[in-house]
Amino acid sequence: MSIPKTDSERAAWLRDRIDYHNYQYYVLDNPEIPDSEYDRLLRELQELEARYPELQSPDSPTQRVGATPLDGFDEVQHRIPMFSLGNAFFGEEIEAFDKWVRDRLGTGEQIVYAAEPKLDGLAISLRYENGVLVQAATRGDGQTGEDVTQNVRTILSVPLRLLGERWPDVLEVRGEIYMPIDGFNAMNEKARKAGEKTFASPRNAAAGSLRQLDSRITAQCPLAMFCYGFGEVEGGPLAPTHSESIRMLTQWGLRVSPELKTVNGVAGCLEFYRAVGERRDSLDYDINGVVFKVDSFDQQQQLGFVSRAPRWAIAQKFPAQEEMTHLLDIDIQVGRTGALTPVARLEPVNVAGVAVTNATLHNEDEIRRKDIRIGDTVIIRRAGQGMWVSPCPWVFQLGNGMHHSLGI
Ligand code: IVH
Repeated sequence: MSIPKTDSERAAWLRDRIDYHNYQYYVLDNPEIPDSEYDRLLRELQELEARYPELQSPDSPTQRVGATPLDGFDEVQHRIPMFSLGNAFFGEEIEAFDKWVRDRLGTGEQIVYAAEPKLDGLAISLRYENGVLVQAATRGDGQTGEDVTQNVRTILSVPLRLLGERWPDVLEVRGEIYMPIDGFNAMNEKARKAGEKTFASPRNAAAGSLRQLDSRITAQCPLAMFCYGFGEVEGGPLAPTHSESIRMLTQWGLRVSPELKTVNGVAGCLEFYRAVGERRDSLDYDINGVVFKVDSFDQQQQLGFVSRAPRWAIAQKFPAQEEMTHLLDIDIQVGRTGALTPVARLEPVNVAGVAVTNATLHNEDEIRRKDIRIGDTVIIRRAGQGMWVSPCPWVFQLGNGMHHSLGI
């Protein structure tokens, strides 16, 4: 059956509108139409595509619901390896890094750094050819990753087609897939009510969701992405600096952390670390530090790489939010109203700079459900906000061993 021109034009128009509103909502956080109107546009497109299946294409917004389950993930060879980062824990290490950079570049001038949060999710590489998302791959060992394209297509902040114009013919964008804390809490709450396994952290939940063989399940998970770098780029220039190039991505519909800033020299870096650290608990996603990158691509090139890490970037980590320890005993505390609360006595452990010796276990059901036993190795995770409202900011996440939490 040939498709009437008006119907194929209408489908193209609907796709453009839906992509545009998606971008306003998920990337810019600035919705222009109510959800009901968005749903109406999507339904109309679904109906047209159902009537004329030839109208369907992999980059249609109707394709975000997931596809036929896979038997396994194919391997992907990264054309440009996905690098890791050197870590610093103390300000002096940033000073040493900056001195090394200046010596190596032979400059007495202050270095301009692009400063970004270090997101606690999973690294991903998106490949766009002629503006269409053709592949999404996990980092794997940096050389070989897994093809998770079907799953990444379901993430609404990842454009299936780039918006705007003048994007390079081949554009590999790298970034982090993560689960926003609100979404994580809601997902765990639902699982708890259904008596299903809960995830220990947003990162674990993101990893579990991204590695589903059935992308229809991934489509139900609230995943999001921030972009922070590039792989192969061909047929079209980026800007001369990292920060400007990353900002160009937003014009093409990709999402970038609003925290990205350029800072000057060590003082600028340390101030950024302090300021972001202060706001860490109020962000809607987990971060485990900040990253500083020499902003000029020219300077980056002069500095080069050592083994698998760039010599032009460094991560400054925050104190860990999660530590392992042992459950020594369980006491029962009697509250003023007579309520009984089990309290875990722990082998002292320092989590995010605070010494922890006990943690509220909520109630007996929780202990049974998690099968928490005296002598267990447990993970103590800081939960500064969200669902685990308890008098104690420390949450006893898991009992009977550590594999659940540390899995991926
Ligand atoms: S840049 C060439 N920037 O940290 C440099 N990585 O330890 C490659 N990460 O595998 C990484 N936030 O998963 C970079 N703003 C950020 C990041 C970031 C999180 C992760 C990423 C990477 C790991 C490296």
